[in-house]
Amino acid sequence: MLSMAAFIVTGCSGIQSTLDPAGREAKWIADLFWWMTAGAVLIWLAVILLTVYAARTQSEARNHRRDRILIIGGGAVVPAVVLTVLLVFGLKPIPTLLAPAPKGSLKIIVTGEQWWWRVRYFPPGGEAFELANEIRLPVGEPVQFQLESPDVIHSFWIPSLAGKVDMIPGRVTYLALQPTKIGLYRGACAEYCGTSHALMNFYVEVTRKEDFSTWLAQQALPSQPAAESNAARGQELFLANGCNACHTVRGTRAQGVIGPDLTHVGSRLSLAAGTMPNEPDAFQRWIAHITEVKPAVNMPPFHMLPTEDLRALGAYLEGLK
Ligand code: CUA
Repeated sequence: MLSMAAFIVTGCSGIQSTLDPAGREAKWIADLFWWMTAGAVLIWLAVILLTVYAARTQSEARNHRRDRILIIGGGAVVPAVVLTVLLVFGLKPIPTLLAPAPKGSLKIIVTGEQWWWRVRYFPPGGEAFELANEIRLPVGEPVQFQLESPDVIHSFWIPSLAGKVDMIPGRVTYLALQPTKIGLYRGACAEYCGTSHALMNFYVEVTRKEDFSTWLAQQALPSQPAAESNAARGQELFLANGCNACHTVRGTRAQGVIGPDLTHVGSRLSLAAGTMPNEPDAFQRWIAHITEVKPAVNMPPFHMLPTEDLRALGAYLEGLK
């Protein structure tokens, strides 16, 4: 019983919980949930008490006038009042939840791909740049997400920060939110979109405004040339094996746009859309055995590459900080 209670309570916290809100919008949703739960518990208790009362009293002792009042009151009046209050209470935050962020707010375009997230930032006064499977936000600032998909329907969801919004091919959808707590959160795809639906996740780091500006400026820079010899060989192999056909590494000849931008891949919080830790071994496993990590992915596995080449590629990519 105790372990069950502990399990339920721990299930309410964490980096991917709607019941542990860290944003204005998620807080509204969580509050609505708790009010509804409290109401449901009260009504349940009332029904149980009435059931016990009905089972225990003799039918001759009943007052038919009172019974009729109870049936009409409990069966029609009370539900009508409760549902009306709930409707008003539930509809009230919707205009605010659907309103766009104020003009001049941070804008981020996120595109759902098979099976990863393309993320585009538009720094004020600077050029737009792209990264993948990671979003950083300044605490307390409103942000406007524009959500897109080129082929299948995904659903963009950061449970700790806001509700989910579908990404629909041929349409553009929007989500405005405002994080209120510094921390690391996890987002996921909330709409079944194909074989690796469960393997498209991402991290959201909410930081102080100054840390966010530093990160933004660093991400906007092109990549640094590989300094160490193994990594330099990895960079040559990257181009020689045609990785540049699909991937961009800003500051090099690699300008592909099909797969994720890898300019600062070594600095990311995870690899393969939240499915692997960011470390050299993971890069090697990814390149050689990608279909084992993420079935039906568009990238072919490069298992024909010798181990030393995989090591060099891993060193190069890990070095792209
Ligand atoms: Cu994308 Cu499910």
